[in-house]
Amino acid sequence: MRRPALCVNVDHVATVRQARLEAVPDPVEAAGLCESAGAAGITAHLREDRRHIQDDDVRRLRRAVRGRFNLEMAATPAMVALARRLRPDEATLVPERRRELTTEGGLSVAGDPARVSATVAALRSRGIQVSLFIDPDLAEVEASRGCGADTVELHTGAYARAFSRGPAAARTQLRRLETAARRAAGLGLRVNLGHGLTYDNVRAVCDLPGIEDLNIGHNIVARACLVGMERATREMLAAMRSAPAARPATPGGRP
Ligand code: PXP
Repeated sequence: MRRPALCVNVDHVATVRQARLEAVPDPVEAAGLCESAGAAGITAHLREDRRHIQDDDVRRLRRAVRGRFNLEMAATPAMVALARRLRPDEATLVPERRRELTTEGGLSVAGDPARVSATVAALRSRGIQVSLFIDPDLAEVEASRGCGADTVELHTGAYARAFSRGPAAARTQLRRLETAARRAAGLGLRVNLGHGLTYDNVRAVCDLPGIEDLNIGHNIVARACLVGMERATREMLAAMRSAPAARPATPGGRP
């Protein structure tokens, strides 16, 4: 059976950078490392509050990413205009609330099909594939098809929470994801999964039928902070012990 591909969400590399408003760590540099390690694509969420990824990041990601570049965005006129200029390979429409820590629930496609259809059409007419981030509910899957989406991304947050409660709870949520995934595939939609996936809970969702991509961010960035720390410390020590650099020139021109 074919396994899903991995698209790494680099938002939280930018979160660390924005904590000091510095130039590093650079999510574009991180994206290159993810792709070198085998990621099929890169995902970034340009939030309306710009709390992590910035406009310049998505422009640079568009140029730098060799695989698929997936832009997560709210279905607002300003974001649609930006995406139409940027032309990512894929745009994933997500709900956004200002005070949330992360995207908490799926988009309500069935609740506002006219607005979603108009947004999908505006993006698709620029050659951008459109994915809708939805809860794994049949009504949402069917509404997504009705709105002309290419893809649905099924929200795995409930599965991730259930996984930490134990195997029985996890199985219930896996069945829910499988039912939604089969229905979506039956309607001709591509199916992605994302949110809350971790090194511990990812394996079981890879066995669900017909899943194309997994969008995973926070857990990979969290792991990278730890497995990369030793090397970062060693490199700082090496820089401290290396041959002295030429001193900056003094105002009088003396070395
Ligand atoms: N997919 C979507 C639509 C998201 O909004 C997010 C979070 O930005 C993710 C996937 C990645 O979730 P996580 O950071 O929990 O892996």
